[in-house]
Amino acid sequence: MIPPGLPPRPDLSRLNMSVGFMVTPTRFLDACQRRCGDYFTLRPQEDRLLVVTADPGAIKQVFTGDPAVLNAGEGNIVLAPLLGSASTLLLDGEEHMRHRRMLLPPFHGERMRAYGETMREIAARHIAAWPRRRTFAVLPSMQAITLEIIVQAVFGVDDPGRRARFGAPLRALLDMLGSRRQVLMLALSLNRTGPRSPWAKFAAAREDADALLYEEIARRRASGDEEGEDIFSLLLAARDEAGEPLTDSELRDELMTLLVAGHETTATALAWALERLRRNPAVLARLLEAEDDAYLDAVIKETLRLRPVVPAVVRRLAEPMQLGPWSLPAGVNVAPSIYLLHRRADIYPEPDEFRP
Ligand code: HEM
Repeated sequence: MIPPGLPPRPDLSRLNMSVGFMVTPTRFLDACQRRCGDYFTLRPQEDRLLVVTADPGAIKQVFTGDPAVLNAGEGNIVLAPLLGSASTLLLDGEEHMRHRRMLLPPFHGERMRAYGETMREIAARHIAAWPRRRTFAVLPSMQAITLEIIVQAVFGVDDPGRRARFGAPLRALLDMLGSRRQVLMLALSLNRTGPRSPWAKFAAAREDADALLYEEIARRRASGDEEGEDIFSLLLAARDEAGEPLTDSELRDELMTLLVAGHETTATALAWALERLRRNPAVLARLLEAEDDAYLDAVIKETLRLRPVVPAVVRRLAEPMQLGPWSLPAGVNVAPSIYLLHRRADIYPEPDEFRP
């Protein structure tokens, strides 16, 4: 039973809910909204309640609310098996601030502009190898481009061969999460260690990726090589307010976070941008004629509106909270639905149209 005071839930079993959400997420969310309105409650696990909302006022309240009450780290707990519990995405409060302060300096404007050159060079090389005059799936190429870029930015490896060696175990790990069906199978085999268990295969791939990261951490610490311009070097050299560096396992979790958050998201967004342009030739023609980056910027934003890479964010309530008409108890997870918000006809007239 869902405690009183929570929004209605679409009348579904937990299995239906998990399968619907993972296999056909947009159709599932549309159906929930049609049935229940702008607030509904999902229960993906026995002890996890997710109050999804598409109400713009409530979503603003969540994003501008007190992070001590709206815990993002607790909300993101499902990412722990991949990213580790010391990932910025899984932390709250003081510890989150400590990691943010150490992570932010490598992301300043000057350095980002320098990465821009590398990005252009890597993208041009991959695009030159695309087949001509026949259709092909563009996502794998986008994944290769953004993986090479993030490996270069994080590890500062100039040689494409070495970049590929660094990227391979990570690619193998992420390929296990490549389709919704695979994620569902992983969730269903959670912590099962039998020889055919998808979970066991995932754990083995994670071990390979970790081995590479820990080996590199040890190598750089031993060589005292903290002078480089890459993100890894800057994180090794970073000290918190007490003068303490990140520990090996904290470093592993943050490196994994940057590698995963930095390349899979951008690859998916880029692939969808090409999909949108291919299906909207007038937009493509205008983009090719544009004289500055303003229209390109609009094309990217409109792509992220209609094809949001991350369909929702999650915050776990540390205290009760009034959200729209609902008095939510502490412990509930609130999930602003980026996907449903972006399709609201009262905000975007003809919301399904691609209009950069
Ligand atoms: C199209 C590309 C991207 C999308 C759609 C995206 C989306 C998101 C979203 C939705 C969040 C959670 C925000 C929240 O809970 O309020 C997030 C957090 C984060 N992203 Fe990205 N992201 C992208 C690219 C990147 C890149 C390139 C990097 C790093 C190189 C990155 C690193 C992070 C980190 C470290 C966090 C956690 C921040 C914190 O908790 O303080 N993301 N991203």
